[in-house]
Amino acid sequence: MGSGLAGLRAAIEAARTGRGRVSIAVVTKTQPMRSHSVSAEGGTAAVLYPEEGDSLESHMWDTVKGSDFLADQDVVERFVNLAPHEIIQLEHWGMPWARRQDGKIAQRYFGGQSYPRACYAEDKVGFYEMSTLYDTCLRYDEIVFYDEWVVTKILKNNGRFAGVVAISLKNGELALFNAKAGILATGGAGRIYSFATFGHSSTPDGYAIAYRAGIPLRDMEFVQFHPTGLVPSGILITEAARGEGGILRNKDGERFMERYAPKAKDLAPRDIVSRAMITEIREGRGFKTEDGEDYLLLDLTVIDPDVIKKKLTSIREICLRNAGIDPINEPIPVRPVAHYYMGGVDANIDGATELPGLWAAGEVACTSMNGANRLGSNSTSECLVWGRITGEQAARFALTHPAVEPLKSEIDEEEKRIYDKLLGPAPRVNPYNIKKEIQALMERHFHVYREASSMEEGLRKLRALKQQAEMGVEDKSRYYNTNLINVLEIDYMFDVCEVIGAAAIHRSESRGAHARVDYPLRDDKNWLNHILVYKKIDGFEFSYKEVVITKFKPTERTY
Ligand code: FUM
Repeated sequence: MGSGLAGLRAAIEAARTGRGRVSIAVVTKTQPMRSHSVSAEGGTAAVLYPEEGDSLESHMWDTVKGSDFLADQDVVERFVNLAPHEIIQLEHWGMPWARRQDGKIAQRYFGGQSYPRACYAEDKVGFYEMSTLYDTCLRYDEIVFYDEWVVTKILKNNGRFAGVVAISLKNGELALFNAKAGILATGGAGRIYSFATFGHSSTPDGYAIAYRAGIPLRDMEFVQFHPTGLVPSGILITEAARGEGGILRNKDGERFMERYAPKAKDLAPRDIVSRAMITEIREGRGFKTEDGEDYLLLDLTVIDPDVIKKKLTSIREICLRNAGIDPINEPIPVRPVAHYYMGGVDANIDGATELPGLWAAGEVACTSMNGANRLGSNSTSECLVWGRITGEQAARFALTHPAVEPLKSEIDEEEKRIYDKLLGPAPRVNPYNIKKEIQALMERHFHVYREASSMEEGLRKLRALKQQAEMGVEDKSRYYNTNLINVLEIDYMFDVCEVIGAAAIHRSESRGAHARVDYPLRDDKNWLNHILVYKKIDGFEFSYKEVVITKFKPTERTY
């Protein structure tokens, strides 16, 4: 399920593992090359040149420290070990990595990474990686693409994954995909915030269908705000812009990051830079647009124009087209923007969920590789690493287990939900207004800084909105009924936002991206734990897992 980096990488590995003996359906609600992964910009992290000073240990330490010590260290160790192989594997499949003078793959700096270890191709990394993987998928007869099929439900029988129900956008047909094994690779919770780097098709479908199938969501309180979203659109201005020398400035022209992170400065991890930016704005050192939107400046005029033209091609184009600004001559208006979800569907080190036969990979999964704050450029590598692991595991499982028949009652239930309820009587409320209200609530109550009274108010309002929402679709057509898909997505948003809100209120400490003004300190004594949220008939239940600590004891986190 899903055709982004993790989904395509998983499909290839499953095909390689079960060559001629497996049949793989890639079920995707868009077309593969429109998956949100294509918009990844800056880089894919891996240690390539230990002989030049970098090391797997250093990548592991940076990731664990960046996570504010909530990452499971066995998972991080596996990640740093496998990431370099994925870079080389992509190279063999045709990825046009940028080169150094000596012809080797080039790498650049990213926030919180002690060495330049982000491999790149201009600032269009996701596009080139996706093209490489999609092209590779097409070489395997085992892989069949089901474009514009939206998965709506995970089916189970006898405690095993039994397939999924999906609806075709083209003609409204509801179909059963019976499968021995499945991989959820549907991306992050996406557009539950209004100011977001995500494409509009990026919504929390995967989280919600897993949660509804009884699989817990883990560490959902940790939402990453990337420091540099272009104002007012929210389009990502890659961290590579700071990796190449860009500087953040306030309205006094001050390089304010020197005060917050004296060593790392503008290349401190994202949680730290985003907090610093919101503080600058709150303390009156920001700018306002004519429409009253807050922003600070990202100054790339200090960079050699040739570097911008060659290595930040996309950023220049984005600024020219969307803001009428040429970053060679003028600073870019930016502010923190919702970008990534550290939490997700609870999965073990192999990406296996609690439901035998179902794996999760990429942003939708939470193996706790990223803990409370992900480092930039680790996510695309994570998609590749766990795409590979889950693809292999799922194929092996399918080859050694009999098929499970889904329960007819589960399929009937889904048919009724979609055709009778959502496509039934016209709704009295406009779902798009509801979506805007959800996004506004999340922006207001669950942003960079949080506190109990505001979060409780946000959760109360969210629940009230859900009560009155009466989800339904005005348009009854079966052909390309995008309204129906949007309503399904909004329905999923309610579940996932409620989990984020409840977990954020529950975690009474500040750690990584979860910064509480009422609990400003990290509390290792009580909170070196992951929070799991299980759906129950009348609400939800919390459960906990201890953080796996192997090499690095939690210490104070300074940059
Ligand atoms: O800034 C960026 O290019 C984003 C990279 C990431 O989220 O890993």
